[in-house]
Amino acid sequence: LGKHVIHKTSIPSTQTLAQKLAFEGADHGTVVIADEQTAGKGRLNRAWFSPNQGIWMSIILRPSFLPLQASQLTLLTATILAKSVEEVTGLTPSIKWPNDLLIQDRKVAGILTEMQSEHDHIQYLIIGIGMNVNQNEKDFPEELHSKATSIQIESGKEWDMRIIIQAVLQHFEKQYDHYLQKGFSTVKEIWEEYGYKIGEVVTLRTTQEEKQVTLIGLQEDGSLLIEDSGTRHPLYSGEIIW
Ligand code: BTN
Repeated sequence: LGKHVIHKTSIPSTQTLAQKLAFEGADHGTVVIADEQTAGKGRLNRAWFSPNQGIWMSIILRPSFLPLQASQLTLLTATILAKSVEEVTGLTPSIKWPNDLLIQDRKVAGILTEMQSEHDHIQYLIIGIGMNVNQNEKDFPEELHSKATSIQIESGKEWDMRIIIQAVLQHFEKQYDHYLQKGFSTVKEIWEEYGYKIGEVVTLRTTQEEKQVTLIGLQEDGSLLIEDSGTRHPLYSGEIIW
């Protein structure tokens, strides 16, 4: 992993470039990193604010597992980011299902997984990672103030982003192999350790209603198990508005 690293100063999106390279045959483990993105993409077609002070990267993977497992890999990536941030900075992020990294209730990192598959075969998977590192409060646009934070804001100092990138790639290499050999159970355990409000009662807003539920934990398929007046059922992404 990371044997081929493509570094750009400013591009529209590492995700788009990684897709193009993967389509053209780039190797498993190729990493695309940009100092700045001018058209960063978030989940659900949102724009992703990507100035110079953050880590914006996309990892190309060519796994032999089934397309179904892609969501497990996204959850794995969230645990890797949490561990890397904790190891380098001493801050302990939590993971808000499915894969937002929060510190003090504000988002510090996000993951966007995109897949090209045919039948039961994955041609390539692109894991996009965005992490706010050295932004100050004033660097964020007004509408993000209550929602977004950075490692610098939370720790009170500036960080060498290369050290964080290195930690992420090292953990990724190790944990990805471990996951291939041992399956999802360790990922699930670590995810739940960092899981935001796991075991707590939260207000859940779905597209239809609003109610109090208890967050129980992860399921093998990447869904979130919740308990609602005594009965347990899984929640799939897209259904939940926090
Ligand atoms: C989210 O919505 O939480 C996911 C954000 C993912 C952002 C990263 S930054 C690197 C890669 N390139 C993109 O355009 N998006 C992802």
